[in-house]
Amino acid sequence: MTGPATEIGFDTKVAIVTGGGGGLGRSHALELARRGARVLVNDLGSSVDGAEAGGGAAHTAAQRVVDEIGAAGGEAVANYDTVATAAGGRAIVAAALDAFGRVDIIVNNAGILRDTSFKNLTPELLDTVLDVHLRGAFHVTQPAWQVMRDQGYGRIVNTSSGAGLFGNFGQANYGAAKMGLVGLTRVLAVEGARDNIKVNAIAPIARTRMTETVLGPLPGRLGPELVTPVVVYLAHADCAATGEIFSVGGGRVARVFIGVTKGYADPALTAESVRDNLDRVRDEDGYVVPANLTEEMMLAFNAFA
Ligand code: NAI
Repeated sequence: MTGPATEIGFDTKVAIVTGGGGGLGRSHALELARRGARVLVNDLGSSVDGAEAGGGAAHTAAQRVVDEIGAAGGEAVANYDTVATAAGGRAIVAAALDAFGRVDIIVNNAGILRDTSFKNLTPELLDTVLDVHLRGAFHVTQPAWQVMRDQGYGRIVNTSSGAGLFGNFGQANYGAAKMGLVGLTRVLAVEGARDNIKVNAIAPIARTRMTETVLGPLPGRLGPELVTPVVVYLAHADCAATGEIFSVGGGRVARVFIGVTKGYADPALTAESVRDNLDRVRDEDGYVVPANLTEEMMLAFNAFA
């Protein structure tokens, strides 16, 4: 264990935290603000399945977190737009620019669940979940992208999930959305590189109202505040990673990566040679982790070099 040489602080940097009214987002917003960031706390105040709370109830979640930040001496504003539409995303970014004049950090965290086994999945259940998680990250990030490019600085943290990375029963819509966020993360990391925009994803494990609906009460160690340090690091200027995925829960942090085996190469490949060499295709010895598509294509080209 090594102690920190310098504290991670955010000076006057501006962060947008979507779904910041509860659970993980609340924890991220509080800690970013405690460390000096000015925070736009976005939350439309929905239930876990995305049903919108009516009238004033919709506003209490984000406002409560803003009040907590203010009481602790921090600076924050509330916003109640949905991430699920392009207009909502534009309004969220505009609200941050109106309040603080810049946007440096986006934590795409808003989320809902509409779990059902694949045989019962309907287009409506698919779209609702894609709209909040995958399109939501797109809708909020895109209006801020040019701002970040112009200022030559940006940090984006997307919230993926082990349900998509590894698979989980009854979560085809959610898993597809969460894995879609990995693709978005990787492409934005490539596109943002020359403007010092770093884009990473987390796959959290934490006790929130969302996990309670799926898993029941989780053990005490799994508080959201043990996920937030990774988000804070990835949101900071010191962040040394981009295009990467971190599994984080209960104080453990690990990297999840997409690796490629050395594989089996045969210029006269047939279905039979695939069958007969499947062990070599799948052999994990000597795998590599390409940073981007070009690196992956070079592996294929070099197989016969
Ligand atoms: P939560 O239900 O406490 O928080 C989600 C927040 O998003 C809520 O406050 C909700 O009002 C807000 N929200 C929902 N739809 C919205 C919309 N259209 N626009 C703006 N805000 C909206 O749940 P939790 O656990 O804190 O989830 C946060 C994120 O972490 C989600 O993306 C979730 O999928 C992800 N996640 C959580 C895990 C966990 O173990 N808690 C595991 C894997 C992923």
